[in-house]
Amino acid sequence: MLIQHDVVIVGAGIAGLRAALEAALSGALDVAVISKLYPSRSHSGAAQGGISAALGNLEADDPEWHVYDTVKGSDYLGDQDSIEVLCYDAPRAIIELEHFGVPFSRLPDGRISQRRFGGHTAEFGKRPVMRACHAADRTGHAILHTLYEQCIKHNVHFYDEMQVLDLLYDKGDNAVAGVVAYDLRQGEIVAFHAKATLFATGGYGRAYKTTSNAFAYTGDGMAIVYNAGLPLQDMEFVQFHPTGMYRIGILITEAARGEGGILLNDKGERFMERYAPTIKDLAPRDMVSRAIYMEIKEGRGIGGKDYVHLDVRHLGREAIETKLPEIAEFVRIYFGMDPTDSLIPVAPTAHYAMGGIPTNNDAQVISDGQGTTVRGFYAAGECACVSVHGGNRLGTNSLLDLVVFGRRAGKHIVANVPAMKFAKLPKEPEKPLKDRFQKLLDRSDGGLVDPIREGCQKTMMDNVSVFRTEQTLKQGLADLAALKKSQRAARVLDKGRRMNTDILDCLEMGFVLDTAEVIAESALLRRESRGAHARDDFPKRDDVNWLKHTLAVRGEDGRPSFSYRPVRITRYQPQERKY
Ligand code: FUM
Repeated sequence: MLIQHDVVIVGAGIAGLRAALEAALSGALDVAVISKLYPSRSHSGAAQGGISAALGNLEADDPEWHVYDTVKGSDYLGDQDSIEVLCYDAPRAIIELEHFGVPFSRLPDGRISQRRFGGHTAEFGKRPVMRACHAADRTGHAILHTLYEQCIKHNVHFYDEMQVLDLLYDKGDNAVAGVVAYDLRQGEIVAFHAKATLFATGGYGRAYKTTSNAFAYTGDGMAIVYNAGLPLQDMEFVQFHPTGMYRIGILITEAARGEGGILLNDKGERFMERYAPTIKDLAPRDMVSRAIYMEIKEGRGIGGKDYVHLDVRHLGREAIETKLPEIAEFVRIYFGMDPTDSLIPVAPTAHYAMGGIPTNNDAQVISDGQGTTVRGFYAAGECACVSVHGGNRLGTNSLLDLVVFGRRAGKHIVANVPAMKFAKLPKEPEKPLKDRFQKLLDRSDGGLVDPIREGCQKTMMDNVSVFRTEQTLKQGLADLAALKKSQRAARVLDKGRRMNTDILDCLEMGFVLDTAEVIAESALLRRESRGAHARDDFPKRDDVNWLKHTLAVRGEDGRPSFSYRPVRITRYQPQERKY
């Protein structure tokens, strides 16, 4: 089956919906969104604490301070022209969301409430600043639902529960003609032909055992692009959020610390005072996650175990119930504790991909280190790497990235797509995927996927985590190579065509392993420590050799091959990063 639209957007999270809305608002384009889930279940809905903008509603703020914080937070790997776009567009983006109907929390005078978040400061690092606009601690949920309503209102066409598995990319032409998807409900393989295709497919957190990410976060978009022969950028930078619920990984928002919560070790010490004397518990995530592991390593984890405590008791019941209701509920449900009178057990949890599909500031996918754009192909959100987050993202900059670059993608599409022709489709575009499905249905030997997933999550957690060394990374790569072999030979038990999540699990496992391999190989090559990439064997940042972006392309042998491109620096030269 073949379906044609002017614009096909893959992924119904906030970046995808914001791009779709912008394209649909023009009234000149026929826009479709394909989602592997029902749209309102997209992982953007799990974003809790806020979206940053220097509105200055509670205290003086300036977009330039936001730029500075983001550059420093990125450990100077972010492209500074892109960061300027992000931070200077933020106040406008928030007011626009407000006008779309996002129910932000309010101050008594009606303006949008703001709070503190890690790494966001006033006057170039002097003190924490209230920059995070929020809807209690359900900010992503509020934005996601509002944008979905707006898309419905503006006649965006939704294909729910369809999983995109192939990109129709012609390398010779450097152009994308659309995608191929599995329609879960009908059990069919469907090709989509589009003038513009946008990937907003999210991250790969499910590669790790402990993660804040939804089950759907299996690196699909990144792996599909990589397997099509296009590059992935800076994949070694994986963010661990410091406060996941111990052993479960579900997020306890950084807003808990933004509102005044503190981290305590087994001795009851507020240990962040030692690691970041100026902004303490509100240091950036890479630093706080490392500090937690250092405390644990030095025997100050709670009861000698691998977690610490988050203390919000002093905030009082009213503040907890009104400003942090979601996490209060999580703590009650999953731990059977009341955060108003109990300490919360927390440990770092795999949270966010700083790396991804490289794009320019209009979200056009680039195919090389010179910035050559792929015709008709865009990426936005977590699957993309603009790069505004560099080596380490600041909390609340992700929701901002989604709406700023989602909209810019939509604008570029509106300006260019009406004059574009549909790129040529290959003969029988669905055939390669149909064949892969049939092969899986026919296979009766081989192992099942579950142990492969467990193996991947374990080795990534043990070997490609917050701290890495050459030895752990080599171990991780050896494990991943064996797991890839097993995945290629795996069989499925469900032999039906409709709602065959067994096949999807198997194909998703392939995507997870492809992204995991690129993460580990990129990390092995980067012989320095920067942002979230901490090498015990190369503990210092090395700007002479490593102030550059990694580009990984799938080589002829199926393994990644690497090149590098320079970081774009405008105003802030790299400095030692102290907080
Ligand atoms: O802690 C949080 O609420 C997460 C926010 C983010 O990742 O931006």
